[in-house]
Amino acid sequence: MMNLRISLLASLAMCFVAMSAGAGSPKQAAIASADPRATEAGMEILRQGGNAFDAAVAVTAALGVVEPAGSGLGGGGFFLLYDAQEESYRFIDAREKAPSLATRDMFLDASGNPVAGASRDGPLAAGIPGTPAGLVFLSEELGELPLATSLNPAIELAEEGFEIGQRALLGLRFRKDVLLRSRSFAEVFYPEGDVPAEGTLIVQPDLADTLRRLAAGGFDGFYRGETAQLLVEGVNAAGGIWTLDDLEGYRVAERQPVQTEYQGMRVITAPPPSAGGVLMTQMLNLLSGYDLKYASESQRVHYLVEAMRRSYRDRAVYLGDPDFVEMPLDTLTSPEYAAGQRVSIRSDRATPSDMLAGIGGDGSEGTQTTHFSILDTEGNRVAGTVTINTWYGSGYIPPGSGVILNNEMDDFSIKPGVPNSFDLVGDDANAVEPGKRPLSSMSPTFLETDSGVAIVGTPGGSRIITMVLLAALEWHKGRGAADMVGMKRFHHQYLPDVINYEKGALTPTMQDELKRMGHQLTESKRPFGNMNVVTWDFATGRVESATDPRGEGEGRVY
Ligand code: DON
Repeated sequence: MMNLRISLLASLAMCFVAMSAGAGSPKQAAIASADPRATEAGMEILRQGGNAFDAAVAVTAALGVVEPAGSGLGGGGFFLLYDAQEESYRFIDAREKAPSLATRDMFLDASGNPVAGASRDGPLAAGIPGTPAGLVFLSEELGELPLATSLNPAIELAEEGFEIGQRALLGLRFRKDVLLRSRSFAEVFYPEGDVPAEGTLIVQPDLADTLRRLAAGGFDGFYRGETAQLLVEGVNAAGGIWTLDDLEGYRVAERQPVQTEYQGMRVITAPPPSAGGVLMTQMLNLLSGYDLKYASESQRVHYLVEAMRRSYRDRAVYLGDPDFVEMPLDTLTSPEYAAGQRVSIRSDRATPSDMLAGIGGDGSEGTQTTHFSILDTEGNRVAGTVTINTWYGSGYIPPGSGVILNNEMDDFSIKPGVPNSFDLVGDDANAVEPGKRPLSSMSPTFLETDSGVAIVGTPGGSRIITMVLLAALEWHKGRGAADMVGMKRFHHQYLPDVINYEKGALTPTMQDELKRMGHQLTESKRPFGNMNVVTWDFATGRVESATDPRGEGEGRVY
C-alpha cells in the first residue's frame, strides 16, 4: 500500500513541478528564522556565494548554538527542499532513531505504569541524533560551499559566546531541577550556579570543538571517533543505552513529500514519520466539501475543529515510522474517506471525541523546536524544522561534547493511551522499537499557486499541523506573510476534547455559539507557535520574509 502511495505521490510531484517552474528566478533571496544571529549566519553564507542549502546548514547550526532550548546537534529534524535546477522536491528525514537497546516497555515500571519523567529527563529519553547527518547531507549533496565554511558562523557563536535572551531564560527557569542534574549543562547555562541574568554571555567551547570535528570530518566527524566516544560514554555513565554502532549506523532517509491540492492551492509537505502531511491532506479534503467563504465565523471554526478532531484521531490510531509500520495512507488521504467522515459531521453540533472509535487523553506548550524558511535567487527553497523536543531536550550534555541531547523518545507512545508531553496519545503504530523513528508533528511546508509560493513552518508540538493549516488557509484567502505569522490561532487534537485558542482568536459571540454547539473551550496561557514564512509573488516579483510576533526571530530579504 505504501509503495503505491509513494509512486502516486511521485507522479503528482512531476506535474506540480511543471507548474511552478515557469516562474523564473526571484530577484531577491530571503531568510526567516527564530533568531537574528541565525538569520545573519545564513545571509553571510549567501553573501559568500552559497545557495539556499548551504544557508540552511548555517542557519540550523547557528540556531543550535543561540537557541539551545529548541534545537541543536543533539536532535533531529526535517528539511523540505525545492531544487530549482532539477525542478524537484526532496524531503530529508533527519529524525532521531531509538537506540538498538530500546524496548517497547522501557519507560514502564514492573507493574506496567509509566515511570514519571523517564521518557523526558536524562539520556534514556534521547534518540540517536539526526541533525548532524542532515547538515552533512545538505552540504555534500546540494551545497556549493564546503561544510566547514557553512558551519563557521555557528563555530564562532559557540566560541565567542552569545547573549542569552528571555526565551532561553524561561526554559532555564522552568526546567531548572532537571537541568542542574547534568554538570556539563550547569557549567554552561548556570555559570554562577543559578539562572543567569538576561544578556549574560553564554560560551560553549566544547560545542565549538564538536562543530569543528563535524566541519573537518563530515559524517565521521560526529558519528565516529572522538565525538561518538564522548557521547556514548557520557550517555551510558548517566543511565542511557547508546552504542557506538547506533551512531555509526545512523542514516538520514530521503522520502517523497506528501502533496495535496485545495481549491487551486498546492500543498507540498512532510510525509511520515511526520503526521503533518497526512493530517493536512485529510483536513483539506474534508474542508473542501464546505463553502467556508460563506460560512459564519463560528461555523467555519466548527468545521475546522471537526476536521482537526477526526484527523488527529487517525493519527493516534494509525501513524508511525513508515520503515516499521504499514499505514492505510491511500485510504486516509482519499477524497472518498473524507466524504465518509463528512457525513458524521453535524452542522450545528460538536461530535464528542469519545464517540469516534479509537483509543482511550493543556500540555506544557512551548515554542521550543524551531523552523526557518529560505529562498535563494536561483529559486531554491528550504523549509526546515529541527528540534530537541521539549525545553532543552533531555537536559543532559555528555561531558566534553557540549551537545544537549534530545528527549524525542517521549514522542513515541510509551504505552497505548498514555498522553505524551503534548497530550498526544498513540498505539502500536507508534510504540517504541529499536531503530524506529518516533512519530512527529513537524511540518515544513511549501504552498504554491500559479501566482506565488510560500515557505512555511513552526514549532509547537502537536499544534504544528493545525497552525500550518490555518496559515495555509490564510494564504489561500490572499493574505501575506505577515498575516500568516501574526494571525490568532486555535487548535483541537481529538484528545483532550477541547478547543484550545489564543486570546483574540474567538470573539465572545463566537465562543457562545461554539459552546451552544457543544464544544468545550479553553484559552491558552502561552503563545501559540513561532512561525517563520517567506513568500514570493510571481507577478510582482515581491519577496517577503516574516517572523512570528510571539518570538524573537528576524526575517530578512537580501
Ligand atoms: O516532533 C515533534 O512533533 C515534536 N518533537 C516537536 C516538539 C515541538 O515542537 C516543541 N515545541 N513546542
